[in-house]
Amino acid sequence: MIEEVIVSKQNPVIGLATGSTPIGAYNELVDRYKRKQLDFSKVTSFNLDEYYGLDPSNHQSYRYFMDSNLFNHINISKEKTHVPNGLVNNPNGYGREYDELIEEHGGIDIQLLGIGRNGHIAFNEPADELRLSTHLVDLTEDTIEANSRFFESKEEVPTKAITMGMGTILKAKKIVLMAEGEQKAKIMADLISKDQISTKLPASFLRLHRDFTIVLDSKAAKYL
Ligand code: F6R
Repeated sequence: MIEEVIVSKQNPVIGLATGSTPIGAYNELVDRYKRKQLDFSKVTSFNLDEYYGLDPSNHQSYRYFMDSNLFNHINISKEKTHVPNGLVNNPNGYGREYDELIEEHGGIDIQLLGIGRNGHIAFNEPADELRLSTHLVDLTEDTIEANSRFFESKEEVPTKAITMGMGTILKAKKIVLMAEGEQKAKIMADLISKDQISTKLPASFLRLHRDFTIVLDSKAAKYL
């Protein structure tokens, strides 16, 4: 689906995620580039989120993740890759600018998403209300716990992040959510089998989107 967007658009804009889930897709994109099947020279990218307070050179930052898992291995120009800046002083003003920049590029053609085991997308965590625009967010205990596997200790996991909002994500023309492994089975069953949307399950709002695809492995589809 990503390849289809890249080959069919003049100036393709792709929305990218970090975490374990998209690594296989990124390896596949790198392989297709190496086989000369895919050209990224016209591609612009926007990432979903970044830890607040982490320098881009920090090995735990999402900028570092994207460079080392994808951007360094393909012919995308780095100036066309956008990952929220985790060091800004005014994150909410910055968030509005990030959303405007996406719009100036004509919007996101395809947005890749993972899902938290608590139902978060990007870092829009379950809550009474969800934010529309890119903003600063406090991570939940569950997310800090889940992400501690990438850090030496749980105490090192940043407690805040800058994340695209629900409106930013839902404006993407096409959305693909991927989930794998048994730890995602329960949330995927909730998301797919309930005829409901709820701010307590942020991913459920994706079901309002006209072009939304879910890709699961058999373990994540265990209860379906
Ligand atoms: C990452 C992101 C998160 C992850 C989610 C799943 O940019 O926004 O929402 O997609 O936490 O993470 P993994 O894939 O590591 O299970």
